[in-house]
Amino acid sequence: MKKLLITRDIAAPVIAQARDLFDVTVHDGGALDATASAQALRDYDAILPTLGDDFAAPVFDGDLRCKMLGNFGVGYNHIDAAAARAAGVTVSNTPDVLTDATADIGLTLILASARRAGEGERMVRSGAWGGFGPKNLLGTHVTGKTVGIIGMGRIGQAVARRCHFGFAMEVVFFNRSAKSVDFPARQVDTLAEAMGADFVVVTTPGGAETTRLIDKDALAAMKSSGIFVNISRGEVVDEAALIDALASGAITAAGLDVYENEPHVPDRLRALENCVLLPHLGSATAETRQAMGQMALDNIIAWARGEAPPQAVN
Ligand code: GLV
Repeated sequence: MKKLLITRDIAAPVIAQARDLFDVTVHDGGALDATASAQALRDYDAILPTLGDDFAAPVFDGDLRCKMLGNFGVGYNHIDAAAARAAGVTVSNTPDVLTDATADIGLTLILASARRAGEGERMVRSGAWGGFGPKNLLGTHVTGKTVGIIGMGRIGQAVARRCHFGFAMEVVFFNRSAKSVDFPARQVDTLAEAMGADFVVVTTPGGAETTRLIDKDALAAMKSSGIFVNISRGEVVDEAALIDALASGAITAAGLDVYENEPHVPDRLRALENCVLLPHLGSATAETRQAMGQMALDNIIAWARGEAPPQAVN
């Protein structure tokens, strides 16, 4: 039987099916650091890793037993897919099954940050609420506003559809290649133009090509009434510049699901009232996480049968 390492505890039916087909170890020590990943690549035939596990280029050096990484997650910026390929290791991911759940978190953050839901929650829980007030916690109206989508991939389109059909919003988007979509949306030529929308939602992949795409200058293109949402990867945004913009009032609010150095969230950011901070919940529904586990395992099963994994990325 081939040896499979699953690096985190995932949905029980997926682990049960894996145990029928492989000699399975479920790692229970949290994310794998580079030393643990390098060792795992020597000890196992296949690995089902996830976000936080360190599969940067150096871990692929030397003689590896492992030939398959079936990643749990659509984003695989924690895996150097080119170095993996060079070492003969196939990498797959889990697209599509998490698109709706992740877009829903985008809308959660648009609404929660616009309507100051985090502040309201804190007010009620702390006992500080003094009752209904005509000027209590006035937020920003969402319906009919413009939204700028940064990265019009599957998740960007799902966010845009919700904004257009659900909230009558005008959609503009910035995408590195030309993209046509089946609902009203206008592609703009510059990042700055999309950043000028009432709401900005970042939905690009992570990785070298998008690192710090949203820098100080990009944030400076936002309106002072603008609201910034990031559901992609923390590294896409210059976090310090975002904190400055929120603290100085250069922008009104932010909703964040991802951070530059997860799980570290800077004290300065946590101290700000005008941001809603979620702990990377994009795909976190029971149904979606089971589907992701199943897709990751199905790719490993295909590989074990000598077939091409359907969601291979390298
Ligand atoms: C989660 O962030 C994922 O990439 O699936």
